[in-house]
Amino acid sequence: MFTLWLNASPHAQGDSATLAELALQEIPGEKLRLDLYPPKVEPCRDCGDCRAGEACQLDATDAMGHIRERLHQADNLLLSSPLHFFSLSAPLVALASRLEPEWFVWRQTRKPAPDKRRAALVVTAGGDYPDMFQAARLVASAFFRIAGFTQAEGVEVAGTDRRPPRENPEARKRAVETGRRLAGVTPLPPPD
Ligand SMILES: Cc1cc2nc3c(=O)[nH]c(=O)nc-3n(C[C@H](O)[C@H](O)[C@H](O)COP(=O)(O)O)c2cc1C
Repeated sequence: MFTLWLNASPHAQGDSATLAELALQEIPGEKLRLDLYPPKVEPCRDCGDCRAGEACQLDATDAMGHIRERLHQADNLLLSSPLHFFSLSAPLVALASRLEPEWFVWRQTRKPAPDKRRAALVVTAGGDYPDMFQAARLVASAFFRIAGFTQAEGVEVAGTDRRPPRENPEARKRAVETGRRLAGVTPLPPPD
């Protein structure tokens, strides 16, 4: 089992990375952590090459060639991000835009992801207010679907300004449970 962890926080050991590490500890097999800060992936420039069946030109000049290869190989994917301006952090959204080649294929096939190929989002936020994770959820769900993963329940933790995850046993427990869902120890509920 190979698990790819994309840490999209500027903090190597920040709130979201702390929880992602707890989830990762529950997953056996090979693991690879890639930090998206400082930003290494350019946003899509809508050149149209991928829609014409050609490889993304930017893959040869930034980190996306390597990340794309590892994404395709991964059995599990864990995304960790702080909430930045109501969404996932900018480097992660830039990376998501580079899934345009995968989106173009997905749009034609609509192939559902295999149940065993699982992905989850760990997201933390300083504030605490209604619907605050909506945009982040939408982006992450699209990312997982287009990259060919079945989404497992992740962890959303609000109020880190008042109580960081390292002082929040409930958040830590949910992170552990997320890892178990990715590992297949806890089965996923049937799709809606
Ligand atoms: C640029 C920036 C934008 C942020 N935007 C939000 C936001 O929209 N809502 C919120 O509740 N917290 C926001 N925060 C706070 C972070 O989400 C919060 O501190 C988070 O727990 C940091 O996680 P990390 O340590 O993994 O980076 C923002 C922080 C920064 C630096």
